[in-house]
Amino acid sequence: MAASKPFLREARLESAQLRTGQFPATVPVFSRDLRVAFPSAVTMFVGENGSGKSTLLETIAYHCGFDLEGGNRNHRVRQLSVTEELLQEPPPLAAATKLSWSPKITQGFFLRAESFFNFASYIDRLAEDDPRAFARYGGRSLHAQSHGESFLSLFENMFENGIYLLDEPEAALSPQRQLAFLAILHDLASSGRAQFIIATHSPIILAYPGAQIYSFDGGQIAPIAYQDTEHYRVTKGFLDAPERYFRHLFDRHEP
Ligand SMILES: Nc1ncnc2c1ncn2[C@@H]1O[C@H](COP(=O)(O)OP(=O)(O)O)[C@@H](O)[C@H]1O
Ligand SMILES: [Mg+2]
Repeated sequence: MAASKPFLREARLESAQLRTGQFPATVPVFSRDLRVAFPSAVTMFVGENGSGKSTLLETIAYHCGFDLEGGNRNHRVRQLSVTEELLQEPPPLAAATKLSWSPKITQGFFLRAESFFNFASYIDRLAEDDPRAFARYGGRSLHAQSHGESFLSLFENMFENGIYLLDEPEAALSPQRQLAFLAILHDLASSGRAQFIIATHSPIILAYPGAQIYSFDGGQIAPIAYQDTEHYRVTKGFLDAPERYFRHLFDRHEP
């Protein structure tokens, strides 16, 4: 696997700068100082729901200057007035977090599955003024494509050089399309000009060779091997012997 140089080297959190007893200090991984290194072009965040993956991704996106609804520096997905823009609060983790870059880049994209619909509407609004706005997204409205098609359109047409922060990209993708996603990811990551940080629950996406995986479980952000992740172990165990799981899951609910 071609090793390529990432742009974002490290994120550091000084927990003393957070207000005790309030979010985000109440999330176990943010209750102490943190140092998260990004030695590889592809980093994956895994962990239970609510363990803090999206909070950290959003903080990185903020420091990149990306629209927090998804998109990049040139996108303003929310229709805010100038005053509303100025009054926007930074994400609560941002002030306590510092990023080290080499070199600092500002191109890229922040993709959150839950706000992709709004992003598609935003591109539609741009296209009302200039139909060429669709050119970078598969040639037609993202709403006119299936959720999975529009996600892949975005990856194929839009991603090139930069830092890409993806929050659960698998949400829209069939297993076959997750494989297609891995192929695109590989093309971009091995070019040496793209870095990915991906929060995912998908055992397929997580399998990307050479990815640095961080687990957010147990109150810390720690490296974990693919085969040790719950995603791999539970999926493999289940597919190998689903009846064993059913016995355990259903028996205790029998009257
Ligand atoms: N703005 C907020 N105010 C208060 N609590 C929040 C806020 N955003 C997230 N949380 C809480 O912080 C925890 C971590 O959330 P999140 O980063 O979204 O987790 P994950 O992406 O790992 O599922 C969750 O318990 C969530 O409810
Ligand atoms: Mg999340």
